Amino acid sequence: MSKYINFLDLGAQPLANNYLKKNDLNKKEIKYRLKVGIDMDNKLVSINKPLSSKMMFNNNYPYRSSMSKTMIHSFKNLAKIIKKQFKPKKILEIGSNDGTFIKNFSKKVAIGIEPCSNVEKITKKEGYDTFPLYWDQKTAKKILSKRGKVDLIYSANTISHIEDLNEVFKAINILLKDKGIIILEDPSLLECLKRNTYDQFYNEHIYVFSLIGIENILKKHNLEVFNIQNLKIHGGSNRYFIKKINHRIAINPSVKINRKKEVKYGLKRLSSYISFASRVKKSKKKFQDLFKKIKSQNKRIIGYGVTAKSTTILNYCKIGRDYISYFVDTTLDKQNKYTPGTKIPIYKYNNINDKNIDFVFLGAWNFKDEILKKEKKFVKQGGRFITHTPYPKII
Ligand code: TMP
Repeated sequence: MSKYINFLDLGAQPLANNYLKKNDLNKKEIKYRLKVGIDMDNKLVSINKPLSSKMMFNNNYPYRSSMSKTMIHSFKNLAKIIKKQFKPKKILEIGSNDGTFIKNFSKKVAIGIEPCSNVEKITKKEGYDTFPLYWDQKTAKKILSKRGKVDLIYSANTISHIEDLNEVFKAINILLKDKGIIILEDPSLLECLKRNTYDQFYNEHIYVFSLIGIENILKKHNLEVFNIQNLKIHGGSNRYFIKKINHRIAINPSVKINRKKEVKYGLKRLSSYISFASRVKKSKKKFQDLFKKIKSQNKRIIGYGVTAKSTTILNYCKIGRDYISYFVDTTLDKQNKYTPGTKIPIYKYNNINDKNIDFVFLGAWNFKDEILKKEKKFVKQGGRFITHTPYPKII
């Protein structure tokens, strides 16, 4: 048994992506206690009692990768690099969502695995070879028998949603050619601690990875990171390029540099996580004070971009309808529903240039640059955004 130590308690939380319909409002919501801890042996940070995948990833899943220009561009650029550098004849994406990434490849080359059949259907209809399955050894064997081994496996913001990481990499090893490449992309633990983005933790985000933690798991499966890129996406993510140990590719200096950076910050020490937890507590108080102050001036606040992350913030800080009149969001499946736990109405995004809106809480802070660029007029008219990262403030 590895040594697991809790360091952060984010209180009672609803399922982060479970947007409520009008007739759900009087029903009791499922709540769970969101605590975060670290497995000190592997230096893996995770929530302490993950819920079952079926409860979270089913045919009602509202998230769409295609809702953000940032994601579309990022996937497009990566696809170009992959084609040029690795020239894969067969590529598999784990967690292909609505196909935003695999659509950069031909139908002959790309395969998608996506357990949420409502989004998986979108790509299948367009003629892509997608499977409505969870990623495990059984799935890997099924793909192996249908399509043979693959040259490259890509997965963004998905592996961190799967509790059994050993199963993940056993399955990858079944399907990946000996000279195959794995590219994983997930929020960075170092950035999460630096920016106090405690909202990276919610029921779906079981892990927030560091390079150190990923390497500890990979070595058990004869895999290793040979390159790492630090991305701006989702408030700071890492893109890990991974290979089988026997495959001879030079290890890029970025791996050593990132490892050193993480060790220097203290990601191997429990005290760093305890300090983070204490900053989070202070952030809660400051966030609440900011909302109280704005409200006392009779100003109107709305929310922009309903994210799973904002579910954690709003429920932890107890910011509900008293403070935020409504949210706007471009995702069809979230519109005309209510935020989990806090029950704030969500409307279709139109524009926010209404003179009655004074402040906008940036739920989708991870797309801050994209949103601020789009909403120049609102800011010019005197409107202001509120964020909680790196500390609660008005932008
Ligand atoms: P995510 O952080 O889980 O990716 O979710 C981002 C949400 O924000 C998603 O529902 C789409 C929404 N959104 C907008 O409504 N407007 C925007 O301009 C952007 C970038 C995102």
